Amino acid sequence: MGAAGGGREGLAGRLVLVTSGPTREPIDPVRFISNPATGRMGHALAAAALERGARVVLVTGPTALPPPAGAECVPVTTAEEMAAAVLERAGAADLVVMAAAVGDYRVERPADFKVKKSGDALELRLVPTTDILAELGRRKGGSPRPVLVGFAAETDQVAAHAAEKLARKNLDCIVANAVGVAGSGFGSGTNQVTVLWRDGRREDWPLLTKDEVAARLLDRVAVELFGVRGGQSAREAGR
Ligand code: CTP
Repeated sequence: MGAAGGGREGLAGRLVLVTSGPTREPIDPVRFISNPATGRMGHALAAAALERGARVVLVTGPTALPPPAGAECVPVTTAEEMAAAVLERAGAADLVVMAAAVGDYRVERPADFKVKKSGDALELRLVPTTDILAELGRRKGGSPRPVLVGFAAETDQVAAHAAEKLARKNLDCIVANAVGVAGSGFGSGTNQVTVLWRDGRREDWPLLTKDEVAARLLDRVAVELFGVRGGQSAREAGR
């Protein structure tokens, strides 16, 4: 893991809120709608922020991963639980990194009892969840804090879709990764990402482990958005 750029103390004294993992939207007490996120990227970011001297709050959906030692862990299940946990804490944060794969829809009326099979088609009405990052962007307005970093998992037109999200959600930076590409995205140990900054700059990073992406991202954020003096990472980023 690289310790370049912002250095080991690049986020010293900062409060960093990281989200990780999938969310689960219940259908009934024994079934849910979810996605294949494992939490590897978010947990790696929490560990990398701790290594750089930050205090870390990790709001995580259900994963098999233990939270990194030293992080305050807030376990949640649904998108609305994640929204409540994040919105309550984000005002105090210097940096919010939304690496969680938040469900965009929930079942409008989950059943109180297990739905029995009838042989007929079953219709579920889905309604939108809170877009947590968009709400953070709205609350932030023109102020510099908290710094907002989003992720965008895309199957096509990766940079274009990510640029649109960065602008729409009022983000400082977005990390776009192609899902459905070998070695990148859900469940993979590695990620090939494109990083976009608010001012329009674009960095295409090589295929890296998720630990390396986390380290490099926080070093770049420390340099670009917290004014930490850059070292090696600024050069590495262009590689
Ligand atoms: N996100 C969020 N709340 C949601 C959905 C997404 O905070 N309800 C965050 C994710 O954590 C991620 C970013 O928004 O950092 C982009 O998520 P993504 O699913 O790629 O974008 P969406 O806005 O949901 O757009 P779409 O699914 O249509 O691509």
